[in-house]
Amino acid sequence: MRHFPGFLDQTTQEKLVEDLRDLVEKAPLFTPVMPRIGKPFSVRMTNLGALGWVSDKAGYRYQAAHPVTGKPWPAFPESLLVIWDMVSHYPHPPEACLVNYYTGSAKMGLHQDRDEEDFAAPVVSISLGDTAVFRVGGIARGGKTQSFKLASGDVVVLDGASRLAFHGIDRVIAGTSTLLKSGGRINLTLRRVTKPAVS
Ligand code: SIN
Ligand code: FE2
Repeated sequence: MRHFPGFLDQTTQEKLVEDLRDLVEKAPLFTPVMPRIGKPFSVRMTNLGALGWVSDKAGYRYQAAHPVTGKPWPAFPESLLVIWDMVSHYPHPPEACLVNYYTGSAKMGLHQDRDEEDFAAPVVSISLGDTAVFRVGGIARGGKTQSFKLASGDVVVLDGASRLAFHGIDRVIAGTSTLLKSGGRINLTLRRVTKPAVS
């Protein structure tokens, strides 16, 4: 994987948070639940773009409408498309931006991002707010993993051999950033969902 510490400067981070505040009013954060068992996630989520990733008792999938409001997801702010163009090395635009909001002891178990059709497209992850302990392993479940910190403004790209790497968030370290007024961490992941007709 590729890690760009401090990729976004303070002004860009502040502007992005301001944009997100408006967008989250239109597409409110919701608490997804695990497929089948219905156990709630500890993060809250929403999405931007043509397609959004959701999880409920029926399973994981991308869909065009917000599960609570039934409305289309809001469009990406331009700044996200600029970041994608800078780091993705992929000639088509992203279609989905998953917004994960971590507060308190929220975390995310090890998983692969594999609900997309085109693994030639990377997953581009942007961290805002408190520092997280990110864990990454190989492409087999149960393999060796290592952890490192993701701070506000960091960008991570999962592509090539790392595109299907298991990854997750062990914990978020409270009080490590003042970007978000009430603390916590926002992670944005940009994804291409459908395979483009022509590559
Ligand atoms: C995710 O894998 O969906 C989120 C990872 C992160 O919060 O950095
Ligand atoms: Fe993920």
